[in-house]
Amino acid sequence: MPRRPLVVGNWKMNLSAAKGRELARAVADGLPPGAVDVALCPTFVHLFPVADVLRGSRVRLGAQDMFFESSGAYTGEVSPAMIAETGATFVILGHSERRHTIGHLEDDWMINRKVRAALAAHLTPILCVGETLAQRDARQTLDVLTFQLTAGLVGVSADAAERLVVAYEPVWAIGTGRNATPAQAQEAHAHLRRLLADHWAAAAAQAVRILYGGSVKPENARELMAQADVDGGLIGGASLKADSYLGIVSAALAAKG
Ligand code: PGA
Repeated sequence: MPRRPLVVGNWKMNLSAAKGRELARAVADGLPPGAVDVALCPTFVHLFPVADVLRGSRVRLGAQDMFFESSGAYTGEVSPAMIAETGATFVILGHSERRHTIGHLEDDWMINRKVRAALAAHLTPILCVGETLAQRDARQTLDVLTFQLTAGLVGVSADAAERLVVAYEPVWAIGTGRNATPAQAQEAHAHLRRLLADHWAAAAAQAVRILYGGSVKPENARELMAQADVDGGLIGGASLKADSYLGIVSAALAAKG
């Protein structure tokens, strides 16, 4: 069974609720027909208003993060059930901005707890992994990916494979305009799939969708997604405009069609 391509828009901390609704409407209305899954991830407080717009469309909703506890005294956090209640079915976990940039500095232990909690709540986790520029220069890329993927999947069984999404996002490519080359992306993705096969089994590894993220644009999307183990994209900046985002969706269809 070929893997169905998936294109996820990560809006990060951008847009007003009104602009988010407008963009969601434009994406839903402009979605090309074809075998591709598409999801948009607005900030927490815009999940409900964007869900309203997407209801009845083919565009899915996702959150940008989540806490792993189900309830309690965790000021500022959002639980898996709260996310599911909005209608979201995806949740981005371990994004590099949360690992490296924002004050939380999430570690792999916490990200693993989140992955398990998301699966338990019937959400699809998008587990993000990726090396920094210093790690790439020191030729540590594959070791970093091995560690982050293995740590992220502790206690996750092969039954979850079809519901798991992994995103390879080299930190040096995020928001920099400098994307990984298709060959660099394929090398990393093939490595991740081999690890999944070792962790579970070849069939389970074949079911997992591995997205590439980092400066994906309509102009480079097709070549990246034409790689055998690149099953779609996690899109930041280019997801903030309907035409560029839809251009990437079309490129995914062209690459995998
Ligand atoms: P970018 O972000 O497309 O703006 O590089 C990707 C991401 O952070 O997921």
